Amino acid sequence: MRRKIIAGNWKMHKTNSEAIQFVKMLKVKLINFKKTDIVVCPTFTSLSQVSQILDSTNIGVGAQNLHYEDKGAFTGEISAEMLLSAGCEFVIIGHSERRQYFNETDQTVNQKVHKALEKGLKPIVCIGELLEEREDNQTMNVIERQVRALFAGLSEEQASKLVLAYEPVWAIGTGKVASPEQAQEVHAFIRNLMAELYSNNLAQSVRIQYGGSMKAANAKELLSQPDIDGGLIGGACLEPDSFRDLIEVAEGF
Ligand code: PGA
Repeated sequence: MRRKIIAGNWKMHKTNSEAIQFVKMLKVKLINFKKTDIVVCPTFTSLSQVSQILDSTNIGVGAQNLHYEDKGAFTGEISAEMLLSAGCEFVIIGHSERRQYFNETDQTVNQKVHKALEKGLKPIVCIGELLEEREDNQTMNVIERQVRALFAGLSEEQASKLVLAYEPVWAIGTGKVASPEQAQEVHAFIRNLMAELYSNNLAQSVRIQYGGSMKAANAKELLSQPDIDGGLIGGACLEPDSFRDLIEVAEGF
């Protein structure tokens, strides 16, 4: 049985004081949840303080991006070691907003996955098709290309440390959630592809989150699907009660 994993991607929200206040509330609200892996991914500026507040709780901390070089003249970038020193355990890689607005490619996503694993961070790697690609019947081709690229050069042992997030781009921040059947179809496809690339064992153990307008009201149907192992949450993670309610649904599995 794969444990459900719910991660909150704060994107560019919350100042330091807002972040501190938020996680102080959150740790009390989530204290009794034991069955679900819970992660929050604040902005870089509040990572250190958030990690300190959540130290020794049931809530893990992740960053939203990293650079694939160790250090150097890369103005505005952040390294894996900097994230580790700020208390990070996870890192989101290849979010569609990074791919769309900041020119991330399948190749840089793969480089970032390698660096994160080398340094001991747990990557949450995002994949997903654009609306035009879905309408053009290209969903599985796009997903296959992204999956093959992200795993390139990884051993089975390294691959087993990943969490994947299937996020149809047309469902992100739009309120248009994929139907459970649409999501399940892609999740099963990804799992089969992992079996082909590595082994059935690996495919059965790697968790695949769904992301895109997931919230407490639609989480049960999505999480009931056999290949959906959690959620990467944007909008619904920004208020303590909506995030709590969603995790309560995940605890029911
Ligand atoms: P959303 O974002 O829940 O606001 O759709 C999900 C994500 O971008 O990870």
